[in-house]
Amino acid sequence: MKEFGTLYPHFLHGADYNPDQWLSYPEVLEQDPRMMAQAHCNCMSVGIFSWAVLEPEEGVYRFEELDRTIKRLSARGIKTILATPSGARPRWLAERYPEVLRVNKAGLRQHYSDRHNHCFTSPIYREKTVAIDRQLALRYGKDPNVILWHISNEYSGECHCQLCQEAFRQWLKKKYDNDLDKLNHAWWSAFWSHTVTDWAQIHPPMQTGEPDHIMTGLYLDWRSFVTHQTVDFMKMEIDTIREVCPNVPVTTNMMWTPQQIDYHDFKDYIDVVSWDAYPSWHEKDQIRCAVDAAFNHNYFRCLKHKPFLLMESTPSNTNWHAVNKLKRPGMHRLASLQAVAHGSDSVQYFQWRKGRGGSEKFHGAVIDHNGKASGRVFEDVRQMGISLEKLDQVCGTSTHAKVAIVYDLKNHWALSNASGFINEDKQYVKTCLQHYKSFWKRGVDVDVISVGEPLEGYDLVIMPMLYSLPQEQIERIEQYVAQGGTVVATYTTGYVNETDLCYLGGFPGQKLKDVFGLTADEIDSLYPEEQNTVLWGEESYTVVDYCELVTPTTAQVLGTYGADFYKGMPALLKNNYKTGEAYYIACRDTGALTDRLYAQLLQERKIKTYALPEGATITSRAQYLFVQNYNDHPITVPLPATYRDLETGALYKGAIALEALGVAVLCPEA
Ligand code: GAL
Repeated sequence: MKEFGTLYPHFLHGADYNPDQWLSYPEVLEQDPRMMAQAHCNCMSVGIFSWAVLEPEEGVYRFEELDRTIKRLSARGIKTILATPSGARPRWLAERYPEVLRVNKAGLRQHYSDRHNHCFTSPIYREKTVAIDRQLALRYGKDPNVILWHISNEYSGECHCQLCQEAFRQWLKKKYDNDLDKLNHAWWSAFWSHTVTDWAQIHPPMQTGEPDHIMTGLYLDWRSFVTHQTVDFMKMEIDTIREVCPNVPVTTNMMWTPQQIDYHDFKDYIDVVSWDAYPSWHEKDQIRCAVDAAFNHNYFRCLKHKPFLLMESTPSNTNWHAVNKLKRPGMHRLASLQAVAHGSDSVQYFQWRKGRGGSEKFHGAVIDHNGKASGRVFEDVRQMGISLEKLDQVCGTSTHAKVAIVYDLKNHWALSNASGFINEDKQYVKTCLQHYKSFWKRGVDVDVISVGEPLEGYDLVIMPMLYSLPQEQIERIEQYVAQGGTVVATYTTGYVNETDLCYLGGFPGQKLKDVFGLTADEIDSLYPEEQNTVLWGEESYTVVDYCELVTPTTAQVLGTYGADFYKGMPALLKNNYKTGEAYYIACRDTGALTDRLYAQLLQERKIKTYALPEGATITSRAQYLFVQNYNDHPITVPLPATYRDLETGALYKGAIALEALGVAVLCPEA
């Protein structure tokens, strides 16, 4: 592994740059680097979709344009993040070798189209990708201007061709030790006579075949296989680059979670995590949007528990949201510094310049169709570049969270496809965000971690709706609490194992019954118009969607249901287990109950909180505080000590006034 930052220990500021679209506009190519320098950009991501220019015919490589681009950029002091072009294949490749194109869920081979339309199993696609990657590594691997490899683009999607299906069967054989009995048991295939008697009978879930939610063991294995195959392809690209060029770090840009692949399986192969963030700012509930973006930043930071890179964001609007709103004055700075606050060592954009044609011509860019290095958006970008230069000392620093939320993709897939409860939407992600908000609004940093990660070191671990729990994770939770940790779990915890088989002997599965001191016997789902309440002390809290009926064994009852046939039964419980504590929230509340519980737990554990106005937060990175206002009106934020503004040098004692959408980066004054 190569530490990112060794080649360029400053914040990166730049964009995806696509000069290949402008080859017949030499004046544009000349102007760009000058305008980039004016915008205080120091690096560009180049070559992401350049395959057709780099290899116009099979085996014929043309690097002159890329040479010129890197040279022109470096003449202005701008570094290059160099992409491998496998995110979109040239036409000749698909025409000559149709197997490289995907077969869709309906079983149809797609025509040449779009970008991410290639089979990760196809030996030919692999061979051609390795060949071009190797050429790129040989040519640019020693170029000091190339500071990072950008492997492909937003790996995603799946293919159902015969090659993929056979690879899936081989993967299953390995997973189940070549033993069909094991597979049949894991998939509970005796249900509806689905017993597999020959590996060749296995097909992925498809439109004309098994739906996702019928044989969920098959579906979950397919999802894991698709992740595996994608990671395998990425590893192949990384190995090709590293073989020639071991000293330049690699990344791959990821997307907003949840996706259909599990990024956790990517993290060990890349040197630095990067992701593309496109929040729908200025939606009706701006605070929700800020919380969601913060949660995602934390998720990506925690893949490696290190600083990450914001690889793409828009300087103004997107072109693919339902409504593509402009960023209001202040939002560009706020959203960009939010990423930095949560651990990003870059602010990168899609895209440097709006194309003249194609579907992204109206997507926001630093340079608009007017071609001018001026205007509101350009000025926002320029100011961001200046800010990042002033914040240099923050670059590379880390976050030390005492609270973790377990948010797991495999759990999400299992829960979303479980037939039962409320089928329309189990709201797993929304629930995680609701729990996270209690910490966000108090300025408490949170690690967002997956099942399988160590829990030691956290004062508090929150596990909303952790329905699918492998045996090892149950052990991990038990040990964490036994050794003095505190966990909070909710309804639907530990119902099934990793292949979606229910735990026998009562929920939550196995040792968790002892940890939480209860059994969860039944779960009631509520119609949207229904509500219940929980009475906790003198207070009553509104409950929606789910009421689990639990029987305490050793747990102490803190709150009880206020209505229905289960009125008076436990809804909120606490169990002292060995040297730790385990809380169980048996119902979905509208936020106030969980919020009160978390306020209390934070206070008892003496975790630092801030008293903040609604819509404001403080995010810490090392000793630095990022004070953020997501309101469309000014606020005053109380501060516990005296701080210095890293950009302006101003001193703030006891409070700071922030304008609408304002943000300040503060350092404690000795
Ligand atoms: C990203 C993608 C970019 C561009 C951008 C538009 O997902 O990586 O190439 O399409 O979206 O927002």
